[in-house]
Amino acid sequence: MQQSRREFLITGTALAAASILDAPIQVAKANVAGHRLTASAGRIPLLGADAPETKVWTYNGNVPGPVLRLRRGERFELDFENALQQPTTVHWHGLRVPNDMDGVPVLTQAPVAPGGRFRYAFELRNTGTYWYHPHFQSAEQVDRGLHGVIIVEDDDPPAVDRDLLWVLDDWRLDGQGQIVNDFGNLHDASHQGRFGNTASVNGRVPEDLEVQSGERIRLRLVNTANAWIFGLDFVAHSPTVIAYDGHAVEPHQPTGGLVIVGPSQRVDVILDLNAAPGERFEVIDRYYSRQPYKLLDLVYGQNRLRSKAPADKAALPPPDLPLPSLATAERHEIVFSGGAMGGMQSARYDGQETGIRELARKGKIWAINGTVASKHDEPPVLKLRRGHSYIIEFVNETAFTHPIHLHGHPMKVLEANGRKPAWDLWRDTLLLEARARGTVAVMADNPGRWMLHCHIPEHQEAGMMAVVQVD
Ligand code: C2O
Ligand code: CU
Repeated sequence: MQQSRREFLITGTALAAASILDAPIQVAKANVAGHRLTASAGRIPLLGADAPETKVWTYNGNVPGPVLRLRRGERFELDFENALQQPTTVHWHGLRVPNDMDGVPVLTQAPVAPGGRFRYAFELRNTGTYWYHPHFQSAEQVDRGLHGVIIVEDDDPPAVDRDLLWVLDDWRLDGQGQIVNDFGNLHDASHQGRFGNTASVNGRVPEDLEVQSGERIRLRLVNTANAWIFGLDFVAHSPTVIAYDGHAVEPHQPTGGLVIVGPSQRVDVILDLNAAPGERFEVIDRYYSRQPYKLLDLVYGQNRLRSKAPADKAALPPPDLPLPSLATAERHEIVFSGGAMGGMQSARYDGQETGIRELARKGKIWAINGTVASKHDEPPVLKLRRGHSYIIEFVNETAFTHPIHLHGHPMKVLEANGRKPAWDLWRDTLLLEARARGTVAVMADNPGRWMLHCHIPEHQEAGMMAVVQVD
């Protein structure tokens, strides 16, 4: 049986002997020799040096995969090799790449067969924090560890003492510290997705992060979990958000004090460390308010770096994105339905109106505009004209929160979950709460067939995906 998150946390922490400082928490320099990336099975010391290693799937032998530090305007080329036993692809989440480099099986490329290779090449058009992962059977492939971060350096970065990366993830582990092999079960698919019992930072169950009094840190948070939404409370510290999903935002303190990072989302924050030397503070995930989860401790070293962290605003240059014209935009509605307690009776599946019981037997229970996707290359739910602007209203008729992701085009958020953002807000993934609405504007400037899907892969694979075509 599975242990509860709490029970497991106690075990997990006891097993984790290695300090978090041993984990690759600091952003590495670009470390892919000639940009070669290989997906293969491997093992990592997820629970620490004294616990059995966990069998995972890796990029270049580790989880997370290599940090790709790149520059805007640069042409990125990478030779990918698939050493897994099943086909895969690499998707560049949030990057505005040409359609044939987007890594979506069948829709934009043939899946890379076991032993096969594929050369990805594109130009980097925007700065910020992004990530890469498979788009083939992602419920299993991403969960087993296939993911890595891309950092496109800012042209004029704010001055900080350290630029740190936390890849947030979760794992459903058994008592031996191994991944529970129950992928694709109908319960996960029809409820909140595959939820783990153990959280990790940069592929390790973390202990302490040593900080210095007076230090200013830029922290890049990336959520690679299938379903776990993080809402981080930096107890006694007030982080300033400077970017969402890679795109600069007016610096601000998050509403309610929690830094919320949904599956696949990124948040860059500035963390000023102004407590006294020797103090210790927890960082706690409080998104699920009845199940707070301690992630790690910030531990102040004995020395002061300076009397107080710098007080300047640390804004990033504004994002350089094609602006949708709201005055001329055409409006469309995208309705999400289905799932447990969603009340959906039937939906179109493979061209036929199909009852919910039969859909459930096929493991398909979510629909977009009344259609349950059976494959990646469905007929388009929206056809957009290149160079035109669109306002898309997302309507969540389901009983669950969904991270809604559009490929190829950042979305300007006009309203989400009953709130209008107080500043210009761009996202590639919008966290749409249960029975809530969200309105975004998009400038259709990138031709091709693009995925629109829930980033909980259990939901996506159970039908919650669609194609948006731009001609
Ligand atoms: Cu992060 Cu369609 O993907
Ligand atoms: Cu979903």
